[in-house]
Amino acid sequence: MNDDLGWNKIFGAILGTALVILGLTIAAQMIYAPHKAAKMGDAIAVAEDTSGPGAAAVDTPPDWGTVLPTADVAAGAQVSTKCASCHTFTNGGADGTGPNNWGVIGRQPGSKPGFAYSTAMQDFGKKVSKWDYDHLYLFLANPQSYISGTKMSFVGLKKPEDRIALIAWLRQQSSSPAPIPAPNPKAAAAAAGAATAQAGAAAPAPAAGTKVPETGVNATAPVSAAAGAATGSAGQTGSGAAAAPKTDKTAPGAPPK
Ligand code: HEC
Repeated sequence: MNDDLGWNKIFGAILGTALVILGLTIAAQMIYAPHKAAKMGDAIAVAEDTSGPGAAAVDTPPDWGTVLPTADVAAGAQVSTKCASCHTFTNGGADGTGPNNWGVIGRQPGSKPGFAYSTAMQDFGKKVSKWDYDHLYLFLANPQSYISGTKMSFVGLKKPEDRIALIAWLRQQSSSPAPIPAPNPKAAAAAAGAATAQAGAAAPAPAAGTKVPETGVNATAPVSAAAGAATGSAGQTGSGAAAAPKTDKTAPGAPPK
């Protein structure tokens, strides 16, 4: 009896050891095999091409001519207290962790003299000539995903109404507030349609629309309209990109070394 139990323990130990070794071997294969696939970079590049516009289209900026005149500026001032640990918004205020943001709407990103911006923000300023309503709206939703590498470590303002109120307030923290565009009911409808998802609005040319966030700086109304139109297809682009990584799962054939 005692003997049997002893052997059971020994066999158990051997079996356990074998299982551990097998597990380690499989783990090693999983870790090292994908490096041979070398095509990974391609798949990632494709996914990244769609992520910017896709993200932008999901969170479509509103029609500023419609929302700004009625925005709750006082609520925006309240929201700005979340920025106050790093930014001043007064005329001539000091830079802190972030730059003074008096008159930031209309300013070129990464351009305030005397502030040491990240290269990510400076590069963004080379692509986008000024902070306008749309770019601020998208940036403030999630700064680090919108400008990867920015040193603004702030989680972002999830609620569109918070961002709209804040931007309406921010607009007034300036010696020459940016103009409010004329209302564009069509764009407003498109943005609203995008917000409630689907609805398909029957608008054409999503391909052109997906490029807009990079280039369209002044054309506020068309940006909103195109972005709204793009929303429907953006979901599909996303699932297409998600399907792409399947090509990476080619590893099983490769023998371990
Ligand atoms: C934890 C600190 C921190 C908080 C909180 C913060 N920011 Fe920033 N912000 C920064 C830093 C740092 C930069 C410079 C980013 C860079 O160079 O990459 C910056 C940059 C910016 C810029 C670009 C300025 C320019 O000159 O291009 C804007 C606009 C901005 N912040 C707005 C806001 C707003 C609005 C809030 C509140 C909702 C906020 N930030 C909250 C640290 C912060």
